[in-house]
Amino acid sequence: MSAQRPRVLSGVQPTGALHLGNWLGAIRNWVDLQQTHDTFFCVVDLHAITVPHDPARLAEDTLTTAALYLACGIDPQASTVFVQSHVSAHSELCWLLNCVTPLNWLERMIQFKEKALRQGADVSTGLLDYPVLMAADILLYDADRVPVGEDQKQHLELARDIAQQRINARFAPRDEQGEILPILRVPEPLILPEGARVMSLTDGRSKMSKSDSNEGSRITLLDPPELITKKIKRAKTDPVMGLEFGNPERPEADNLLGLYALLSGQSRTAAAGECAEMGWGRFKPLLAEAAVEALRPIQERYGQWRQDPATLEQVLKHGRERANAVAEATVQRVRDALGFLPRS
Ligand code: AMP
Ligand code: TRP
Repeated sequence: MSAQRPRVLSGVQPTGALHLGNWLGAIRNWVDLQQTHDTFFCVVDLHAITVPHDPARLAEDTLTTAALYLACGIDPQASTVFVQSHVSAHSELCWLLNCVTPLNWLERMIQFKEKALRQGADVSTGLLDYPVLMAADILLYDADRVPVGEDQKQHLELARDIAQQRINARFAPRDEQGEILPILRVPEPLILPEGARVMSLTDGRSKMSKSDSNEGSRITLLDPPELITKKIKRAKTDPVMGLEFGNPERPEADNLLGLYALLSGQSRTAAAGECAEMGWGRFKPLLAEAAVEALRPIQERYGQWRQDPATLEQVLKHGRERANAVAEATVQRVRDALGFLPRS
């Protein structure tokens, strides 16, 4: 964890069970980054309450998500693993950033528009503000890179704009040459093309999502083998023989073949070659087996972490202390830049 390594921050909401999209689009990439980057991964529980939530489940879902990070291969020695709400600088920086972020930047966020539409009249201010809280998450840690799925790209652009145009350009001091001495580091998205977008099992044109009311649309990381097999058996297909990539008329074939390549650890070319002549009836059991085998070690390690709550708690406590030290230093820079009376 040397200081020269570029910094990475990412997070997932503890809303329901993580699915293959979360793993293949996000967490799997985090694991590799631990070798080369100084990595921070949080469970974004404050984001989870931007839509109506069940208080009886929040703590448990937070623990489940943290344990899944570890089960997927996040190493608590190499990474800082923590819970967002345990570091109060997230809420504070969110407020400070709110006051410099134009309302219309938030109103045009695609995810807000989609989620707001689904909720009708009862949309919270928090849902609109979600991307500013996410910007605070990222900017607090001076993150150089933020590994996320394709769907989060717009939120990342917003975080960059807030840092650059609204904080650095307006409040940062300048050196003798007139160059800005930045207060906040401007992050880059890190979006990997393969697996970046895993689509629903029941509709190859919409993404696999925790909020889809049909549970058959997604495979969660904790689904038992029989359930995985059943969901794949029921997955939407088309009448064409043979699997292929890139045919716009066949989004299901593209998605399931892509999943097969990722889950069986083959290249896309190899998977496409293997399945080019295959009917759905032969392909689906192969895909199911690949999914079951890929998830088996994760489910085993998850079980071990949940059987040892004291160690899990220790990981999160240590993570909170490390995260808090970094985050406090950043929020202090912003308080100073905005001109608040120093705490004595
Ligand atoms: P969420 O489930 O919205 O909390 O997303 C957590 C992380 O998983 C984010 O980095 C998303 O970009 C990623 N993600 C969510 N759904 C998918 C999907 N269907 N395909 C790929 N990545 C996804
Ligand atoms: N909005 C992200 C998602 O739904 C989750 C998130 C919150 C996040 N804060 C973050 C991701 C900071 C990366 C960095 O996927």
